[in-house]
Amino acid sequence: MSITEPTGQIPDTDGTARQWWRQAAVYQIYPRSFADANKDGIGDFVGVLSRVDYLASLNVDAVWFSPFYPSALADGGYDVDDYRDVDPSIGTLADFEAVIAALHGRGIKVIIDIVPNHSSNRHAWFREALASPAGSPARDRYLFRDGKGPGGELPPNDWQAMFGGSAWTRIAEPDGTPGQWYFHMFAPQQPDWNWDNPEVREDFLATLRFWGDRGVDGFRVDVASGLAKDMSEPYPEWERVMHGPMSFLESAEVTFDPGRHPLFDRDELDEIYAGWRQVFNTYDPPLFAVAEAWVTPDRQARYASTDGLGQSFNFDLLSAGWDIGDFRTVIQRNLEFAEANDTTSTWVFSNHDVIRHATRYSQSSGYRPMFDRMTRPDDAAAARGLARARAATLLALALPGSAYLYQGEELGLPEVFDIPADRAQDPSAVIENGVIVAGRDGCRVPLPWTASGEFFGFSDGGAHLPQPKWYGAFSVEAESDDPNSTLTLYREALRLRRKFHTSEHLEWLDLGNNVLAFTRPNGWISVTNFGATPAQLPVGTVVVRTDGRHDRAPLAPDSTAWLVRG
Ligand code: NOJ
Repeated sequence: MSITEPTGQIPDTDGTARQWWRQAAVYQIYPRSFADANKDGIGDFVGVLSRVDYLASLNVDAVWFSPFYPSALADGGYDVDDYRDVDPSIGTLADFEAVIAALHGRGIKVIIDIVPNHSSNRHAWFREALASPAGSPARDRYLFRDGKGPGGELPPNDWQAMFGGSAWTRIAEPDGTPGQWYFHMFAPQQPDWNWDNPEVREDFLATLRFWGDRGVDGFRVDVASGLAKDMSEPYPEWERVMHGPMSFLESAEVTFDPGRHPLFDRDELDEIYAGWRQVFNTYDPPLFAVAEAWVTPDRQARYASTDGLGQSFNFDLLSAGWDIGDFRTVIQRNLEFAEANDTTSTWVFSNHDVIRHATRYSQSSGYRPMFDRMTRPDDAAAARGLARARAATLLALALPGSAYLYQGEELGLPEVFDIPADRAQDPSAVIENGVIVAGRDGCRVPLPWTASGEFFGFSDGGAHLPQPKWYGAFSVEAESDDPNSTLTLYREALRLRRKFHTSEHLEWLDLGNNVLAFTRPNGWISVTNFGATPAQLPVGTVVVRTDGRHDRAPLAPDSTAWLVRG
């Protein structure tokens, strides 16, 4: 990577090589659950190294690593003790550098999670803040406030944390007396940074450079819409604050002017990310970032702009049920947004925060991924869920833009239910009758590599979340040579996608009421049957289909086929 003079915008390019991320298939690795080489039950970088051939066999363009930084795991590693190191259970910086080199050697880019909204309460600067007096420069790096009530014994306001309970925690002052309160949008172990503080800003720029200099190609920005806050009094009531910016499929009542919500999506973020862009542009090709920002499409442009991060997640397909109308609206709207803003869209069905889509699609279409609970579906519903998941993924892989894939979805892996309560890790886990009934542990269970063995090839020593008995049927070993497996489908679709994905153009085809079809340049056609009866295929040669057939027979319900014409 060479260094160029900083400029304020993504440099004008002919696209492909320098803006590789525009059409990339990105595979998300949750490091603790991918592959464990040192037998401690926790995935590590040496484990990743041993699976580089596998990653290459998937035909993905990039790998995104969820946090691997030193952490007490109050929130799966999103509580970062040190932004410029690797947790010893995952490896060393040298191991990570070896992973980057190995992936780059196979033509795979590397994206890492950066967590700028909050640190952990073990971060050196938070510990310094606790040891320093109220009003000190060390306290100013975080959001400390005096409490209400005669002795300051009440939190500064009624705001709630995302994982429940007050968003404020009271500290003991250095002399041991009850003292100030600090703000945390998530767990109490995740104090929010004060982004008005210049030292905080500078320190994150140093972190970006640290990883850029080690060869990472980009960042996934956690809670990207949360950094700038208005913590001035009078505080609005939580009732009002919680009606914040949402996905456009939610009819949220927005009670603040755009850009003026006290906690999310504030206009001041533009300036922060413009500073990041300056750093990104000192690399060649420029680094890029994708924002995790749950905001309406009109506001997404700010994160995805060419003088900001570059790209923003749209979680609209992830939030949509199996409904042709919703799919078409979401796709059309996001493609229009991307074109208008000189970025590309991102298509996501699964990640480490939601119930796996093979299981989600077993539910009726009204199911809301981030809000509703579900239980393990019966076999018929599970089969329907998997069929729809395969169809949805194949459809999305044919769309212009990037596809973000979460480890295990290439195996059609279902969500794991009924994890014993004493194994719970997720701060948002809901426990009833001794088992986890909601939360994010069920999509974070270590991957099955082999059909048998105590830990299904994930490890020879343990699995930090228990793997169910049925796991082997979804293993890499079981699926590798099966022509109809989900793994074979992903490999083949991703291989073809690379070949066909030459432009960002899409045209809808009208093939009847329950069929969503479109054509791309080079005569590439995608057809999805949302109906209850088989659908005729248009003219063309079938190259891949999700319903187990390989011919031109009518397409089964809940299936997608790709064809080429000409
Ligand atoms: C979003 C991450 O994806 C999630 O896992 C985490 O709990 C929160 N941000 C807080 O960092």
